[in-house]
Amino acid sequence: MIDGRTQLVGLIGWPVEHSLSPAMHNAAFAALDLNWRYLPLPVRPRATAEVQAAVHGLLALGFRGANVTVPHKQAVMKHLDEISNTARAIGAVNTIVVQEGRLCGYNTDGDGFVAALREAHFEPAGRQALVVGAGGAARAVVHGLLSSKAEKVTVLNRTLERAQVLVSEMGGHSGRLRALLLTPETLVEAASSPEIGLLVNTTTVGMWPQVDGSIWPESKTLPASLTVFDLVYNPLETHLLQEASISGARAVDGLGMLVMQGALAFVKWTGVQAPLDVMRAACERELRR
Ligand code: ATR
Repeated sequence: MIDGRTQLVGLIGWPVEHSLSPAMHNAAFAALDLNWRYLPLPVRPRATAEVQAAVHGLLALGFRGANVTVPHKQAVMKHLDEISNTARAIGAVNTIVVQEGRLCGYNTDGDGFVAALREAHFEPAGRQALVVGAGGAARAVVHGLLSSKAEKVTVLNRTLERAQVLVSEMGGHSGRLRALLLTPETLVEAASSPEIGLLVNTTTVGMWPQVDGSIWPESKTLPASLTVFDLVYNPLETHLLQEASISGARAVDGLGMLVMQGALAFVKWTGVQAPLDVMRAACERELRR
């Protein structure tokens, strides 16, 4: 029951109607009998004044915090009192926590990715990885991999310049990060190196409704030694992950990262360990609807 003591968090973004986060967090609150609610908080794109009003509105309305999603992950930053080193390095905030009247910004995407990777029994320390894409999601993944001591990360992108910018901004790690133009040939060649253990798709290729898309060329077999992580979770089994399974590679879907980044935000707001199984089941239920 919502009453005068209900604690509020929410999701600032646009659009937010199809987000899985409200169902995921509200299921977690209910399972733990916490008097908290998670609300969609739509804030229009390109509305600079509204982003500022929304962030300050969290304080004014007594919210305990919020998640932030596209397109406001960068825009909220200048309205916060504090920003964690991780969020600064990634260049985006996905979680705001109100701490003693101050707005503190965090980014749980990179750590959420690594937690999901470890849950799938892949330890990135000392391993080499290919990251396809160079947008916001790629920045979080690269940060997660480098901070968990991956030996080398290659960022492949259709627009080489964007990968180069990412590398120059995030590559203060003594040559552990490099950029490569994404073509079917460069991807297959890079993935064929026996040193590569992990392939991550951070692009939208394969996402509903273009479910037949894949970054991996149809005519080639994926190396069976790879772990293939697709950040896409709609559909859960993308074309890329089907190809991975067929070739004997380990396939990891994007829901694990969504749940883990949510769980890390959940614990920051509530101080309580998040019920991962409940959260994943709530997401799967929403996806089936
Ligand atoms: P996000 O913040 O979710 O990462 P983004 O910043 O829009 O989203 O980045 C999308 C990424 O997917 C980019 O790396 C984009 O490549 P470009 O930088 O060349 O645009 C990549 N991407 C999108 N559609 C693609 C496609 N059809 N083929 C290859 N890469 C694609």
